[in-house]
Amino acid sequence: MGKTIIISNRLPVQLQISNGSISAIPSVGGLATGMKSVHSGSDSIWIGWSGLTDEDIPKELAPQIDKALAEHGSSKVNLTSDEVDGFYFGFSNRTIWPLFHYFLEYSEFELESWNVYKAVNQKFADAILEKAEDDDTVWVHDYQLMLVPQMVREKRPNISIGFFLHIPFPSFEIFRTLPWREEVLEGLLGADLIGFHTYDYERHFLSSVRRLLGLEVSFNDIYQDKRIIKVDSFPMGIDYKKFSEAAKEHEKNTTEQQSDLQQRLNNHKRSTPDAKLILSIDRLDYSKGIAKRLNAFEYFLNKYPQYKEKVRLIILAVPSRSNVPQYQLLKKEVDELIGRINGDFSTVSWTPIWYFYRSVPFENLIDLYTSSDIAWLTPLRDGMNLVAKEYVATRTDKTGVLILSEMAGSANEMNESLLVNPNNFEQTADAIYEAINMPKEEQIDRNTELQKRLERYNVERWANDFMSSLKEQKERDAANVSKRLTEHRLSVVLDDFKNAKKKMLFLDYDGTLSGFHADPQKAGPDEELYALLDALNALKDTEVYLVSGRDKETFTKWFLPKKYNMIVEHGVWISQNGEDFRMLENVKNDWMEKIRPVLESFVDRTPGSFIEEKNYSLAWHYRKTDPDFGNLRANELNTVLTSLIANDDLSVLNGNKVMEIKSSNVNKGRATMRVLGEGDYDFVLAIGDDWTDEFMFQELPESTVTIKVGRQNTHAKLFIDDIKYVRNVLKRFTD
Ligand code: UDP
Ligand code: G6P
Repeated sequence: MGKTIIISNRLPVQLQISNGSISAIPSVGGLATGMKSVHSGSDSIWIGWSGLTDEDIPKELAPQIDKALAEHGSSKVNLTSDEVDGFYFGFSNRTIWPLFHYFLEYSEFELESWNVYKAVNQKFADAILEKAEDDDTVWVHDYQLMLVPQMVREKRPNISIGFFLHIPFPSFEIFRTLPWREEVLEGLLGADLIGFHTYDYERHFLSSVRRLLGLEVSFNDIYQDKRIIKVDSFPMGIDYKKFSEAAKEHEKNTTEQQSDLQQRLNNHKRSTPDAKLILSIDRLDYSKGIAKRLNAFEYFLNKYPQYKEKVRLIILAVPSRSNVPQYQLLKKEVDELIGRINGDFSTVSWTPIWYFYRSVPFENLIDLYTSSDIAWLTPLRDGMNLVAKEYVATRTDKTGVLILSEMAGSANEMNESLLVNPNNFEQTADAIYEAINMPKEEQIDRNTELQKRLERYNVERWANDFMSSLKEQKERDAANVSKRLTEHRLSVVLDDFKNAKKKMLFLDYDGTLSGFHADPQKAGPDEELYALLDALNALKDTEVYLVSGRDKETFTKWFLPKKYNMIVEHGVWISQNGEDFRMLENVKNDWMEKIRPVLESFVDRTPGSFIEEKNYSLAWHYRKTDPDFGNLRANELNTVLTSLIANDDLSVLNGNKVMEIKSSNVNKGRATMRVLGEGDYDFVLAIGDDWTDEFMFQELPESTVTIKVGRQNTHAKLFIDDIKYVRNVLKRFTD
């Protein structure tokens, strides 16, 4: 078992140089604080940016940088100040961050910063490649490094790569506005496992993959040509023990041991024992809704004036990304708002808002969490929000009320908090009122549940779940590889073929010999395919059958008077050696009158779908519809049809973006078995790509070489990746 390489833009510490010496300060932000606990308990290495640019580092200090980082199990990727501008302040925080947090109007689409983002992602990928062995596991983090998985995959096709996004993944309607959206998705798909905090982010991502890349998604698996990528949600937890134990220790502190901040908080409590402390902690980021929160606080004071002098709001705003103009504007706005509210409401003995613009050490964080009666965390959009979880974990006596935004990922797991829409001042003001007046027992009940969950699903569990899912995915991949028609396996099959006396090849048409077209009539054979089929048909002692769900008219047009053997409409008709089609199976079509109107109503309500009418079956095609909507409608149609045909001898076949209704006694398995029964074959091969071909794979004799095109679940013994490869393989039979 190899090592784990963690890679993110932020390291657990940031380096600073002052007066010629280097110091390391802990990084803020959920990624760094959460992963720090995971990293410290394992033998992983963490690669990232030190926080200093090449220009910041005097030559003589350069060797000490590595040493300082090594003390925290980290190693660095060097970045110039231009790179930091384009990659970090630019594309990451002026394009992706606002876009993914639904601040479309703040998103800048600059080609230059996209180019720097690509180049810097390559630098991070190179740093991994320098250290990685094939049996290592690479865990890439967050929106700054979305191209890294693919960049590593290109050079190390077999290495295990996980990616976790710590911020929301926006809905398709937002994501589609990004000019480089396909590149970003393809970059991510280099991973074996892609993790999100919530199911909503996951489904948004899958929807974008389906719509923008046109890839097949089944449940949470994405099928790429040669690989399956798993997508799942893993809500990040906190180091519960660290916070709850720090809070317990904190309680034991004597007055002398208490921090200055704690003493100030105590003074406040002593002077106004029934006043409530409300805490708000965030990086100073527009996504956190700090300005809105201040406005809501003013609204509260006006709506419930009895609480003047009875509440105090402590705002800890941690400086963040201050080179980005939107953050500078926000700082100004927050400063002014606090000044105005304090100016309007302060009395001789009361200032409603205490404001800190800095990051505080862990010890002070615990002071604030444990001293506050209420935590008020109402981001406008937040991937997770760990502060909410940390606050609850420090409530040793289980009192305290959490007011949390519905728009935070953590809201999904923290139902017992007071959930509010941060844009609704009325609701927010009422939630503060409720929090102030909540009976102790109720607080304890709510926090008991919350704490149980947070303790159980802590950050260690989160990381373990992610890692075991990644491992499972790799094993699944390996199992799949064992079914791949490799060169070696192909040579065995070809040998068997050559040594056999009487041979049979069953070939499906659409999705096997020819690609899919939105209009099925346009998927006719090309010259290369005719040549291939001619050559196969000329093989000695070998019968070749095209086995298709197509109607006989189409195949007559395409293939007669060639002397191919053909079974069409899933087995209703057969044509041998260039003769006209004759019926292979006696079937009725009087049921069509009943079913057609149902399909027509689905066509009317599902733009892009259409009906194909064959002699003995009806097919509803939905390849051209919106993929999500199409699948939804297909499920609906399935339900409607199942009850409608219950008493008829009919069945519904779910093909590749097509649903076909036909007589139950017709299928490709039965048809191929009938022709197989006419001779004594000692080599049989069947290739197909969809559900309708599974009948062949299941019903043909055990010795049949069954091959599936693509990797979805199958009864076939082997699979190959795509049509191009099918044709190459079949050519080898004619050599
Ligand atoms: N934090 C910190 N120092 C501070 C304030 C906050 O280290 O002065 C930490 C806090 O404990 C939490 C993280 O920063 O773990 C913030 O994570 P969160 O998920 O709430 O928001 P993010 O900043 O990642 O958007
Ligand atoms: C969020 C992001 C992290 C980032 C953190 C702090 O949590 O998901 O990737 O590290 O904010 O932001 P910063 O820009 O200082 O790294």
